[in-house]
Amino acid sequence: MAVESRMDKIVGLCKRRGFIFQSSEIYGGSNGFWDYGPLGVELKRNVRQAWWADMITLHDELTVQPGAPSTFDMTGVETSIIMHPQVWKVSGHYDLFCDMMVDCRACKSRFRADHIQSSQCPQKPSKCPGEHDSCQLTDPREFNLMFKTTLGAMGTEADAAFLRPETAQGMFVNFKNVCDSSRVKIPFGIAQIGKSFRNEITPRNFTFRSREFEQMEMEFFCHPSHSLAWYQYWRDRRYNWYINLGISKANLILREHAKEELAHYSVGTADLEYAFPFLGPGEYGELEGVAHRGDFDLRSHSEGKLKKEGESLVVEQGADGKPKYAGSGKDLSYFDDQTRERFIPHVIEPAAGCDRATLAFLCEAYYEDEQPDEKGVMQSRVVLRLHPRLAPIKVAVFPLIKKEGMPEKAAELYRDLKQAGIAAAFDQQAAIGRRYRRMDEIGTPYCVTIDGETMTAGTVTVRDRDTLEQIRLPMNEVVGYVQGKLRG
Ligand code: GAP
Repeated sequence: MAVESRMDKIVGLCKRRGFIFQSSEIYGGSNGFWDYGPLGVELKRNVRQAWWADMITLHDELTVQPGAPSTFDMTGVETSIIMHPQVWKVSGHYDLFCDMMVDCRACKSRFRADHIQSSQCPQKPSKCPGEHDSCQLTDPREFNLMFKTTLGAMGTEADAAFLRPETAQGMFVNFKNVCDSSRVKIPFGIAQIGKSFRNEITPRNFTFRSREFEQMEMEFFCHPSHSLAWYQYWRDRRYNWYINLGISKANLILREHAKEELAHYSVGTADLEYAFPFLGPGEYGELEGVAHRGDFDLRSHSEGKLKKEGESLVVEQGADGKPKYAGSGKDLSYFDDQTRERFIPHVIEPAAGCDRATLAFLCEAYYEDEQPDEKGVMQSRVVLRLHPRLAPIKVAVFPLIKKEGMPEKAAELYRDLKQAGIAAAFDQQAAIGRRYRRMDEIGTPYCVTIDGETMTAGTVTVRDRDTLEQIRLPMNEVVGYVQGKLRG
């Protein structure tokens, strides 16, 4: 019998316990699309909230940074998924956001040209595309990854629009609106979390490469002469965000792109990469990119589509000598009223994937071990060691037995926890050991048991998922105890 891989076990747990399901599964599934179940939706919401808190609500930069006062503004927006089509022409996505693909005329499959060696031809026995005698591969052709739709009832080519392939452009086109409405001063950031869509040719590795996914992106606008220092700052800060939420240093790397890897506008890019279990030893997959984008985006949206000429960026001309795709013509420069200087801000962009971060947290948290049950017999256990802030349920309340007033007492505590805004569960089914294991498997960090002593002395036991340590506390201190743990 084939041994189940670590990744297969994680995917199995996600389905069995309601974290992640294949989209439209009862119809055979939809490739590259995923649904988050009752626990998954809470986990992902916690990832989103942890990001938003770190980037926006709780962002409190007390160290004086280059060109910044002791604090700086971090703002948020939520922009539309379908934007003016010119946005994608000017940004370069319309012309350049392509993968090279190869079709097989025999089996009608499509493969990414750069993934042929790691792809499988659907014919049996399994081989790489092109290795069967009957394979008929075409030459590589460009395939744009943007999903196309049409606006309005006519549905003609003139009504064509695109689902956004990144959230970033929503921030660039609103730069002036945010400056004019919010009295922000450079340096400052605009962030958003939202869905993006890419018609990936080979979606794979569970949610890692999907066709619909969520991004958490922030555009940080700063003075050009401070931009390199800010680039370093955001790279390090983003690395620490993952570490502080439980990713181990052994599994996370920060990889600077080599010069030839950089996009035409980029001065520097670093990827945060994680050792996902579906990869081979020593291999890492991208979690997030932190890019120094120079003034490329604001200048393009002002002047038109830019291209590199020598060391500088110039507006790209069409065959008729006019700008290939004109920008908005709006002035997107910034005037510093203290230094009396006008300039186009440079942008540092940490661009993370919410689904990839959620998957990395799940992979990191998955452990198997053996623990004694209440009779001292060793039982195998699956445990998700999720950071308490990410865990979908923070605390479970168990009455030891279903009588002697214990269920009522447990219900009282359960309600107090919920009213304090703490995600709690109530479970009175099966032996206590089985209840613990059910909670360990979904990453619940604390389990509280109501027993005989609760009824006489008002105390409960609190069991820690990771250390398995049990302490006794007065029941009326449980809410404060859990709140303290979540804050800490
Ligand atoms: N604005 C820059 C940008 O979009 P990107 O590297 O293409 O950069 C940023 O995307 C992040 O979005 C990636 O690091 C990854 O976490 C996530 N992402 C990109 N494509 C994805 C896909 N097909 N499925 C899931 N997540 C994806």
